[in-house]
Amino acid sequence: MRIVVTGAQGQLGRDLQQILQGQQLTLLDLPAFDLTHRDCGRQIAEAAPDVVIHAGAHTDVDGAERDPGLAMAINADGTERVARAAAQVGARLICISTDYVFDGRGTRPYVETDQTNPVSAYGASKCAGEERALACCENSLVVRTAWLYGVQGKNFVKTMLQLAADRPSLRVVADQQGCPTFAEDLARMIGQLATHPVRGILHVTNEGHCSWHEFATEIMRQSGLDVSVEPITTADMPRPARRPAYSVLSVERLHHLGFRMPSWQDALQRFLLALPARSSVASRG
Ligand SMILES: NC(=O)c1ccc[n+]([C@@H]2O[C@H](COP(=O)([O-])OP(=O)(O)OC[C@H]3O[C@@H](n4cnc5c(N)ncnc54)[C@H](OP(=O)(O)O)[C@@H]3O)[C@@H](O)[C@H]2O)c1
Repeated sequence: MRIVVTGAQGQLGRDLQQILQGQQLTLLDLPAFDLTHRDCGRQIAEAAPDVVIHAGAHTDVDGAERDPGLAMAINADGTERVARAAAQVGARLICISTDYVFDGRGTRPYVETDQTNPVSAYGASKCAGEERALACCENSLVVRTAWLYGVQGKNFVKTMLQLAADRPSLRVVADQQGCPTFAEDLARMIGQLATHPVRGILHVTNEGHCSWHEFATEIMRQSGLDVSVEPITTADMPRPARRPAYSVLSVERLHHLGFRMPSWQDALQRFLLALPARSSVASRG
């Protein structure tokens, strides 16, 4: 199968490369491939792919608040270019999106058909990207995921381990709930969905949910680090972009398709085993 991956050097993109190694891959990313360039779709079409996995995005949530135009140019206009190119060559499009399309005022896990209402510029740009993907490519699947962390790239788990190496205690937000998701598990599921006929929107996260504080506490416990994790509120740590307080995604539709992701605790354990620098971080703690 011929597969184009955008954002191929990103956190998820690197795991997609690993998982899909047996396929004919065309790996696209900055600087040679730029979603803001009008003709970037040509690079996709030239590869004549069967599937396009669109993981490229402007993912700096706070940065998007300072420059919402750039976030829109990449996440909405860029996604439209990718979707048009996929449609042009009759490829299936898998477009990666986010729990941040919701406002977080919900009290039960969000299903795919729930009303979106982003509260940040990043969320708004990704929401617009979803709409463009679905409108411009008939055979498209929008995969919403959340709280992503992988062995490659910057993420919450690595930040917590780095902070724990230098500090006796950490302060972590306890009033935001979500679904931590291991990029390798997501990449494996995307690989399966590449040949599945499902279309529309699909939520894919590791099973279960927690607060950032619970997540950090579990990271310390599984790493054997004797570092206390103090719960704080979102108001205690103001940031440029608002985050949804409750962005738990329901994975019922995924279950109905016959798929199930591992629990977030199990995923964390495998991530920690796979993280090359872990032993040196732990010994400094
Ligand atoms: N990270 C999360 O917690 C999270 C949660 C939910 C959903 N998602 C979604 O999951 C997907 C993958 O996220 P990730 O964590 O792997 O993100 P990432 O590590 O930031 O990877 C995104 C990739 O896209 C590239 N990119 C940025 N601007 C571009 C442009 N103008 N043209 C072409 N490529 C460009 C980035 O390059 P540079 O690094 O050089 O900018 C990077 O290689 C994204 O769609 C994201 O919105 C992420």
